[in-house]
Amino acid sequence: QTLDHVAGNIDLGDFDTYMLKEIFEQPQSLENCLRGRIDDDAASAKFGGLNVDVQDLRHVDRIVLTACGTSWHAALVGEYLIEEFARIPVEVEYASEFRYRNPPMTDRTMTFAITQSGETADTLAALRESRRKGHATMAICNVVGSTIAREADGGIYLHAGPEIGVASTKAFTSQVTSMMLLALYLGRMRHLSFPAGQRLIKQMRQLPQLVEKTLACNEAVAKIATKYFDRNNFLYLGRLYNFPVALEGALKLKEISYIHAEGYPAAEMKHGPIALVDEVTPSVFVVPHGTMYPKVMSNLEEVKARKGPVIAIACEGDKEISAAADDVIFVPDVEEYLQPIVTSIPLQLLAYHIAILRGCNVDRPRNLAKSVTVE
Ligand code: G6P
Repeated sequence: QTLDHVAGNIDLGDFDTYMLKEIFEQPQSLENCLRGRIDDDAASAKFGGLNVDVQDLRHVDRIVLTACGTSWHAALVGEYLIEEFARIPVEVEYASEFRYRNPPMTDRTMTFAITQSGETADTLAALRESRRKGHATMAICNVVGSTIAREADGGIYLHAGPEIGVASTKAFTSQVTSMMLLALYLGRMRHLSFPAGQRLIKQMRQLPQLVEKTLACNEAVAKIATKYFDRNNFLYLGRLYNFPVALEGALKLKEISYIHAEGYPAAEMKHGPIALVDEVTPSVFVVPHGTMYPKVMSNLEEVKARKGPVIAIACEGDKEISAAADDVIFVPDVEEYLQPIVTSIPLQLLAYHIAILRGCNVDRPRNLAKSVTVE
């Protein structure tokens, strides 16, 4: 079945584009991703299709996450989650690099190929290379029965439903959520305590509702887009869990509006990107509450001191931010490890509204394909 066939069967409902429809589906897609995967008795997660012996899983000493594009950004969030909650060293590899490299892997290394479509040529080749070397190789995948889903030893389906818009949105948040579940599961068979597992579960269960609340920012984002849609360059900055979010925000803007955008860890700004700051180049700061808040705020002030316009993604109730930034998009105040889910949504919407104002075809951006099945 081609994408056109699939799209033809899916009603746009009240939406003009698949991309916007899919952004607004995220409360539901996350609900579906979590369904049946929480094990309250064990304060852990459960998966139907991992196909690995629990003893083998307990002995995994290294994890490789390999992917392309947006899925690679989800993998970066996954690295932080798995290392924080399961304390297993994680390596994130572009599939296109991994397939030709020969990184040292232990006998107990497990690979996860992360892919919405399950058909990306480089990711498939990376999966085959990992399997060829004898590593248990799993898929975190959306499309049921896709090549990668079939060739993997086991895996986790996202259950996000068909994603038609070429720029990935709901698959990203489901990939991150799947890796949160994985981090919980691997953590609980190691050092993570029962009450700590319960806490994570309680917070994860609130995700669909939190995303629903986050989507209320749409109108504010649309208004901000009218101010900046004619710019040629954007910077996206964030730290820790929000560093991959900055990368993903920049990628979304590039993909659908054709504006040059760069994502950076906020503290790296001083090593180069700050040279790009001028009176017209907007910097999008992902600056929710958390350990890094004061540090990111001081980066933000450095941009302001150089007269750079600042759009901030910040937590509801943050009083300081409105005085510091030119425009603020508020998201619910959540635990740091959940932040990528809520902070990525306004960035999806910002890219969307800017692209629409520039007259771009958001569902089918030029030169891009939904799944890249050639090398
Ligand atoms: C293409 C798409 C991207 C996607 C990437 C990886 O480049 O345009 O949106 O992130 O492929 O796709 P996958 O299906 O493997 O997640």
